[in-house]
Amino acid sequence: MDNVEEIKSKIDIVDFVSEYVQLKRSGTSFRGICPFHQEKTPSFFVSPEKQIWHCFGCSKGSDLFGFLMEIEGIDFPEALRILAQKAGVEIQRYDRQAVSQKTRLLDLTRWAAEFYNKVYWESPLAESARKYLKQRGLDKKTINDFQLGYAPDKWDTLLKFLLKRGYIEKDMEAAGLVIKRQSTINNQQSNYYDRFRNRIIFPIADLHDQVIGFTSRILPGAKDEDKIAKYINTPETLIYSKSRVLYGLNKAKIEARKQDQIILVEGNMDVLACHQAGFENVVCTSGTALTQDQIKILQRYTENIILAFDIDLAGQAATQRSIDLLLQQGLNVKVLKLEQGKDPDEFIRHDLKAWKKALEEPQEIMEYYFSLAFKDKDLSKIEHKKQISKDLLPIIIKLGDPVEKDLWLRKLGDKLNVSEISLRDALTRVKQPYLYKSVQGIPARGGSAFGGKERVPVEEQASEKFLALVLKYPEKGEEFIKKVVLDMFMMPRPQDVLRAIKDCYIKNKKIDFKKIKKEVKDKQILSYLDFLLFLAEKEFAEYEDKEIDKELNCFFSLLKKRFLTKKMENFVQELKQEEEKGDKKKIQELSLKIVKLSREIVSCQ
Ligand code: GTP
Ligand code: MN
Repeated sequence: MDNVEEIKSKIDIVDFVSEYVQLKRSGTSFRGICPFHQEKTPSFFVSPEKQIWHCFGCSKGSDLFGFLMEIEGIDFPEALRILAQKAGVEIQRYDRQAVSQKTRLLDLTRWAAEFYNKVYWESPLAESARKYLKQRGLDKKTINDFQLGYAPDKWDTLLKFLLKRGYIEKDMEAAGLVIKRQSTINNQQSNYYDRFRNRIIFPIADLHDQVIGFTSRILPGAKDEDKIAKYINTPETLIYSKSRVLYGLNKAKIEARKQDQIILVEGNMDVLACHQAGFENVVCTSGTALTQDQIKILQRYTENIILAFDIDLAGQAATQRSIDLLLQQGLNVKVLKLEQGKDPDEFIRHDLKAWKKALEEPQEIMEYYFSLAFKDKDLSKIEHKKQISKDLLPIIIKLGDPVEKDLWLRKLGDKLNVSEISLRDALTRVKQPYLYKSVQGIPARGGSAFGGKERVPVEEQASEKFLALVLKYPEKGEEFIKKVVLDMFMMPRPQDVLRAIKDCYIKNKKIDFKKIKKEVKDKQILSYLDFLLFLAEKEFAEYEDKEIDKELNCFFSLLKKRFLTKKMENFVQELKQEEEKGDKKKIQELSLKIVKLSREIVSCQ
């Protein structure tokens, strides 16, 4: 068995995919919302028996490796490395030359995280760091779970450590760990220096717990504390992209799925405080506004987001944009009411009970905005009314769901005691925020199971469903396979499959999926066969005998009808030509054929 096969035998695809997609059993397969395109109804299928997956919405599909590569946007060697590690399979042909750049950078970040953590616990230089985190209330377990560390107040501690381990400065620079000096200084050993100095280090991990970058917080009381950035992060590297990362998600993902909600906080310290207090479904961005990519990643786990940060009406642009995006994407957004000026970290340490209570009753985001807008307003004053609608209309206009838009508009009208019409009028005069356009490019949710990019013609849908039924219920299919002719299928792929099924039936006197697959050599037809079986699973999983007959009959007559109609149309064309020529015998012959065909067409229901 080669590495790939061994890994596949050790990792169950359903378990693995479940880390990204909520799957529910459906017949012999599992189904869920496809992570690769926008949809509301699940058309993504995973087969535990065959260890493959397929989406009917976007037509993507493959095996365990293909899934990981697609979802993480990585190449095969990296997928192999991750899965080998997960499966506990040692990869023999591990050629140092062949180790990709990414792997080298990941080695470096892993070493760096270990180094900073060791320094934190053991170095005398980390005395003040240890004191600081203790004072912030973090215990040893949390510090180690998150592998927090300390970068000493020196220019080259990490650099020296990594050089000693045989790594080169160019790679360290590519991993964002060191920075190249502008000018060469004589008698300096290296032209590079550590990026992180005198800072608490927070390693940032991807979903597989691999450290990909760092964020770092200045120690209070540091020199020039108020002149330099409180937080410094890894820049964009081959392995770290801040717009695709959520701090803490590797630790939060299981709980997030279990509770079907994620709490989004603002700061790294908030994430840590929450985890330590037993709230694990908590993540934050690393000092950026939430991005489209991050929202997509969150959606793999849940549609329910609870915001636990300061959101005023005017809103910081960044916060406002995050909320807009979440609402636009159709996520359910709720808000935790925090005491003014307190972040979750302080809240939890100050009053854990109050935090728990707040979590039990988060507010609907629009309700939250309404209460903010109406706060301290006197509705008998026209100015105040105007202010309220000026505050709320720009928010309402951005709602993705038209029904919801309507609802809140009406509510605003009721509360202000003005007509909905005048509000609608005002609404059209509210400037569309710039963001609105960029979001309009996103494909709409939902669509038919055959949605995808190109629409599948009715004939092909019918022939596919017909074949799917035959493959899934071969005993019932036999009778139809005898009757159906190749020309009833207009498309080449279904024709190929039909031919294979017919061949198999002639040879073995029965339809046997495994035997068919053995005979077929063409890779495309093979994967099309898998697709058809998934299709059957999706459309006809829990059908009873009677329903199967009905469906088969229905598709068969539809195909037949279309085939006969096409045939008749051709005769009609021919007839027109003959009429021009005036060949009476031919004309009579054709007319007869047409009459016969039309009777036949009528008779197939
Ligand atoms: P404490 O002050 O230690 O409680 O940290 P905090 O995590 O609560 O920080 P704060 O509320 O000030 O900021 C929230 C988040 O914004 C931080 O966790 C960082 O991710 C980010 N952030 C804050 N300051 C900076 C900065 O100067 N530069 C960058 N890049 N990000 C920052
Ligand atoms: Mn804080």
